[in-house]
Amino acid sequence: MEKDKERVITNKETGGDQALDLTLRPKILEEYIGQEKVKENLRIAIEAARKRGEPIEHVLLYGAPGLGKTTLAHILANELGTNIRITSGPAIEKSGDLAAILTNLAEGDILFIDEIHRLNKTIEEILYPAMEDYALDIIIGKGPSARTLRIDLPRFTIIGATTKMSLLSAPLRDRFGMVYHLNYYEHDDIERIVNRSARILSIGIDDLSAREIARRSRRTPRVANRLLKRTRDYCDVRGNGTINPEHCRDAFEMLDVDELGLDWIDRKILELIIDKFKGGPVGLNTIAAATGEDMATVEDVYEPYLMQLGFLDRSPRGRLATDLAYEHLGKQKNKNQQNTLV
Ligand code: ADE
Repeated sequence: MEKDKERVITNKETGGDQALDLTLRPKILEEYIGQEKVKENLRIAIEAARKRGEPIEHVLLYGAPGLGKTTLAHILANELGTNIRITSGPAIEKSGDLAAILTNLAEGDILFIDEIHRLNKTIEEILYPAMEDYALDIIIGKGPSARTLRIDLPRFTIIGATTKMSLLSAPLRDRFGMVYHLNYYEHDDIERIVNRSARILSIGIDDLSAREIARRSRRTPRVANRLLKRTRDYCDVRGNGTINPEHCRDAFEMLDVDELGLDWIDRKILELIIDKFKGGPVGLNTIAAATGEDMATVEDVYEPYLMQLGFLDRSPRGRLATDLAYEHLGKQKNKNQQNTLV
């Protein structure tokens, strides 16, 4: 079945990415390519914390998956010479889970909470005094005889990461001293990342091929590194191991990734809107049913890049394919095809 085909351009982390990330992940800020504004701010924060001998303020990083939020957290820990504990919003189920994590931290440690928007309300409330006063309030007993016991915590730093800023409660957001948005990367930066990764993995690649990979990587380092690995596999089998533009293009054809990094699901979404619904608007639920994906996946994984390319508009009445989408798919727009945002 079509749906079972592996998606090479997904920005979700896959099993193979984890091992790759460990080798390719930059260890210091100097090696981290792109996101110049964020880097500049973090550089100052690190330097100031070092000078004062204090932990840095809590940091919130938000942006699409695969843009380097976890990598930045590791870099911060490395630059500050501290330990990093990694957890995620959905992994902290009970207040005891969080209490155990917090009481095991040492002075200056970094606690990285991925998908922090998925923390439940009770846990969030335990986090407030922990972030603000480095204190853990434990309630002992029930009913009228219940008492609160306050335990002091070491001064630590939370680095929160989220793909959905809008789902973060205002009180939690306000407790972060620094909030940074990670943008999709410039193509030149992705090209530099591809060349850097190729060097680390001892892959021979020319400039044109690096550019071909960069163009198709949805401006996302994780996708770029995965495409590099897959084209290398192809060139190992069909060529002499070095990546050249011709093999590169053949590999992408085989992987069914077009020159803008769109795959069959992206194209299916656009074709559905154009061919079956005259360009839209089409409800998210209809798109989800037609692609066999759930609504959240369509909304969070597929649509952001299509919107970023200017191929898709969201309106209150549903999704619309833009003129650029017609053009990219080589489709003619009918005179009576409506396509306006209402
Ligand atoms: N690998 C993944 N993301 C990277 C980045 N931003 N800079 C350098 N190498 C990377």
